[in-house]
Amino acid sequence: MEQFHGDFYITTPIYYINDKPHIGSAYTTIVADVLARWREQRGELVTFLTGTDEFSQKTLDAAVKNEEDVKVYTDRMADIWMNVWSKLGISNTDFIRTTEERHIETVKDIWGRMEAAGDIYKGQYQGLYCKGHEAFMKEDELTPDGLCPDHKVAPELITEENYFFRLSNYQQQLTDFYDAHPEFVAPAHRFQEVKTFVENGLEDISFSREQKQWGIPVPNDPSQVIYVWADALVNYISAIGIERWEEHPADVHAVGKDILRFHAVIWPAMLLSAGLPLPGQIIANGFLTVNGTKMGKSLGNAVDPLDLVARYGNDALRYFLLREIVYGGDGDFTEDKFRDRYNADLANGLGNFAARVLTLAAVEDLGGGTVSAEFNEVIIKMKKTVQEKVVDYKFNEALATIWEAISFGDKYVNEEKIWEIKDDKKRVAALYNLVSLLDAVKFELIPFLPDVARKLSDAIAWEGKTLTITKPEILFPRLK
Ligand code: MSP
Repeated sequence: MEQFHGDFYITTPIYYINDKPHIGSAYTTIVADVLARWREQRGELVTFLTGTDEFSQKTLDAAVKNEEDVKVYTDRMADIWMNVWSKLGISNTDFIRTTEERHIETVKDIWGRMEAAGDIYKGQYQGLYCKGHEAFMKEDELTPDGLCPDHKVAPELITEENYFFRLSNYQQQLTDFYDAHPEFVAPAHRFQEVKTFVENGLEDISFSREQKQWGIPVPNDPSQVIYVWADALVNYISAIGIERWEEHPADVHAVGKDILRFHAVIWPAMLLSAGLPLPGQIIANGFLTVNGTKMGKSLGNAVDPLDLVARYGNDALRYFLLREIVYGGDGDFTEDKFRDRYNADLANGLGNFAARVLTLAAVEDLGGGTVSAEFNEVIIKMKKTVQEKVVDYKFNEALATIWEAISFGDKYVNEEKIWEIKDDKKRVAALYNLVSLLDAVKFELIPFLPDVARKLSDAIAWEGKTLTITKPEILFPRLK
């Protein structure tokens, strides 16, 4: 089994602020939160970073559209993002905004290092720029009628003098690095896409824009601002400082598949150029659709996580996303599926089992007992399997494993008919087993469903091996 010790540094992408969070952005953040809590539970000192990517052309456009000063707009939107994460119970230890001084200074520093390495040069650029992606697109990436397939708008033809980054210099170093680090990108099939992309040849990339209204100025050339991605990726260093990054770079960058290339190709090349260590791993989730269609502001079908949480609770949202989606693959949200999962697994599964066990146990004097060999085996197997699944990012299987243990307990209650056992000793021994199982389930749930885990912790009090039970309120009221 993997050993856990020391510090753990995990990040989410920093989100564009032309919109508020939807369940797609919430999903990426919740995955990072599970991993952060999981490490913390294992005694690690966790740094968990999220934040907002504010120097995007989209930000400026949105501020203009809202007839708001861009500073007022960015402050207001950054507050919205912070507030949503706090309401969703996200355990981030820091929140970075790219308009903060600590970030701007770090970006300039890294730029200077890349320049000193001879990797920044001035050149002529002509290309098709998609504002939605904040990236240039190749003709063969467009639809037959010349539109960006994701944003359904024609990219703009841009010709300008830009600073370029010599990405092409790093093809061999990246390939060697990938070979030496077979776990650099997970899940594995996503790594293959990255490798193929790099093997097909890397072109230098435009790293600045010819404007000065919105962005971090290029050091020594205020007529240009640094390209938003060259600025944004650096946030992972800005938050902790260059020195700390040198000692301990991020262990995990959790991202979505749409921005994997930026994280697994451009970001490592920037770090190699700047002479800084590379992150441990990039993990990429797939995309979440709603009733089978892509979610977005323009499509008007974005699902608001706060709305779901107000009606069903944080744990229900977390459970659905983690149990329903195979990590790395795409997933679909429908309210019917959400409610089905809620009723079957949370109200009937976990909620009902906990209520039965705790109701029966609350009126007994359980004292100090021992767990039977049979129950012990179920508990140990669950713990071991959940651990294996989490380190493999198989969150759905980790949860399924916990629910198998719940089913085992439920079946035991039915078959043994605990409430009919007349022999006090036997009844208490059976309940001691069941409460111990529920307690072990609770432990496994802490990173996944922190709210219900807390309620169960309050209900099950240990003093050494002595148990005292308080019956909790209904954990997951059944939906009609
Ligand atoms: N600002 C950049 C990231 C810079 S990181 C240095 C960006 N922002 S974004 O707001 O457009 O998207 C950020 C991430 O949100 C995506 O990579 C993805 O992780 C997540 N998602 C956005 N829409 C999503 C879905 N519909 N489904 C799943 N994840 C989604 O890109």
